Amino acid sequence: MSALGAETTLNLPACPEIGNRAVEAIHAAYDGYHRGFEEITRRARERFEQRDWLGAQTDATERLALYRTHVDGAVADVHDILQDSVMERTLWAAMRARHAVGAHRRPDAELAQTFFNSVTRRVFSTVGVDSAIEYLDPFIPPPDPATPPLFDRERVEAVDPGVVRRVLRRFPWSVPWASLERDAAAVSRLITDTLDALPSRGPIELDVLRPVFYRNKGAYLVGRVRVGDVTLPLVLPLLRAERGIVVDAVLMTPNEASVVFGFSWSYFRVDVPRPRELVDFLTSIMPFKRIDELYNGIGYNKHGKTELFRNLMAYLQDPEARFAFAEGDEGMVMAVFTLPAFNLVFKIIKDSFGAPKNTTRQAVMDKYHFVFVRDRVGRLADAQEFEHLEFDAARFSDALKRELTAVAGETVRFHGDTVVIGHLYTERRLRPLDVYLRENKSTAAHEAIVEYGQVLRDLAATNIFPGDMLLKNFGVTRHGRLIFYDYDELCLLTDCNFRTLPTPKTDLEEVSAEPWFYVGERDIFPEEFRSFLGLRRELLQTFLAYHGELLQVDFWHRMQNLHHRGEVVDIYPYKQSRRLREHDEELRR
Ligand SMILES: Nc1ncnc2c1ncn2[C@@H]1O[C@H](COP(=O)(O)OP(=O)(O)OP(=O)(O)O)[C@@H](O)[C@H]1O
Ligand SMILES: [Mg+2]
Repeated sequence: MSALGAETTLNLPACPEIGNRAVEAIHAAYDGYHRGFEEITRRARERFEQRDWLGAQTDATERLALYRTHVDGAVADVHDILQDSVMERTLWAAMRARHAVGAHRRPDAELAQTFFNSVTRRVFSTVGVDSAIEYLDPFIPPPDPATPPLFDRERVEAVDPGVVRRVLRRFPWSVPWASLERDAAAVSRLITDTLDALPSRGPIELDVLRPVFYRNKGAYLVGRVRVGDVTLPLVLPLLRAERGIVVDAVLMTPNEASVVFGFSWSYFRVDVPRPRELVDFLTSIMPFKRIDELYNGIGYNKHGKTELFRNLMAYLQDPEARFAFAEGDEGMVMAVFTLPAFNLVFKIIKDSFGAPKNTTRQAVMDKYHFVFVRDRVGRLADAQEFEHLEFDAARFSDALKRELTAVAGETVRFHGDTVVIGHLYTERRLRPLDVYLRENKSTAAHEAIVEYGQVLRDLAATNIFPGDMLLKNFGVTRHGRLIFYDYDELCLLTDCNFRTLPTPKTDLEEVSAEPWFYVGERDIFPEEFRSFLGLRRELLQTFLAYHGELLQVDFWHRMQNLHHRGEVVDIYPYKQSRRLREHDEELRR
């Protein structure tokens, strides 16, 4: 059946015949995207059950390419159908009205609308937003009593092992639970301990989402526990151990849930017909997370952009809102600014880069894309790419205007009352580590340095070498996690040549300030990290105590070998101490 269904022509908005055909083509392209997305997403369960981690990685990358492919298809189709009329805005206004009829009937209406916007923006190379032909406020489909509920609810007096067993058994895996009785007992105990510590008493409502969230080597059951007026998240990360499926942790704080759904991990694969309903459920357990980040988190990053942009525009209604320079060291490649009260930075590629940078604009974009399609393992910030944004120029101070015009005048153009930015990336704003270390002298600084080494290890575990390891290129999140955000020198670990420094043979070699031996472009000398990092003495000692091996080539060669063997390393979005095996050694045997 066509996307417009068996609709009679009676109440349909007027639209010329070619417009109707073009709308049909856009619906069909969206359907193609949607089917492909669903098909890949549904594979996640089997990948998990079969421990097919490389297959899971391929799926994740393949799914990211779908949107572009289908938008390209739709753009080509509308050009074919509309021919010379393709740039007629009145026709497109009628097409949008007609498109809305089909889109509004879909359980994922908001995504179909974003798709339509993507097509119009490509056809017109729209600068800013064209309110006559784009959807501005996504239509959110109302709940549908005919679709099965998104979650199952238990009302109980206590979350005893029997309740947990019943919840776990609802998931129809084709492989067994490895130790259902033990897991149920451990989960029940941890939930009960948490609830006992609350002031609220009374009956307990336990809601557990039916869809399972898959990412890397993990599967996640997500729910919430309500007692009185307190609602806590409940996230149960599952692993596929050799003997079967095990529960690996019980996470019950909004902060822990928020890290699991954080912006520095790859997107989840979760099969859900009504995405907004799922996003609303997630908002109920993570009230501080923005809607756009939740859409991104479940793989709808294009719609995430629509939501982010709307959010931004709503924020800019405030007459006091002003863009400002980002804190910290200025980059050589990126011009970075922010909106102080909005948790975001805007990164624009500069027109030219000073020495020693010998990269190009395209190479920088390729690196950002490389990060976008890779497993970000909780250590690389997600960057969303925008084109042709338009803002009110009055929101920029004169100093910021001057600076942006001077360093990125090819991309940022101020015309009278407006500024048009041809291309930028948005990223979550973090506290640059160099700034953080100046502000925090004691425990927090030492913890950050331990985290810093851990970032290098986690990235190495996923075959990434950050390239520019200076502290200013890492940021601290509100949860105290450390994340890397400067991608222009990032590369595959397996492409690097880790070397020990040769021993000088003559006095002249010994005192030479410049290297007296040949240094290839990909040569890296881990021994040099020590002085390169410029850590103050007590922090350097902490770094060496926890991560001394990172200064030796052996560590890096070991990691390279692991990747040559095709191993996929486990990295968990929760603390080691939260893992059940930490509580009960027997559980893991
Ligand atoms: N996500 C972020 N949150 C907060 N500040 C950021 C963020 N991204 C960048 N910055 C700030 O902007 C500066 C420049 O950004 P970035 O390091 O990405 O650019 P660069 O030009 O590639 O840097 P470099 O010269 O080190 O190669 C950083 O040093 C930091 O102070
Ligand atoms: Mg930098």
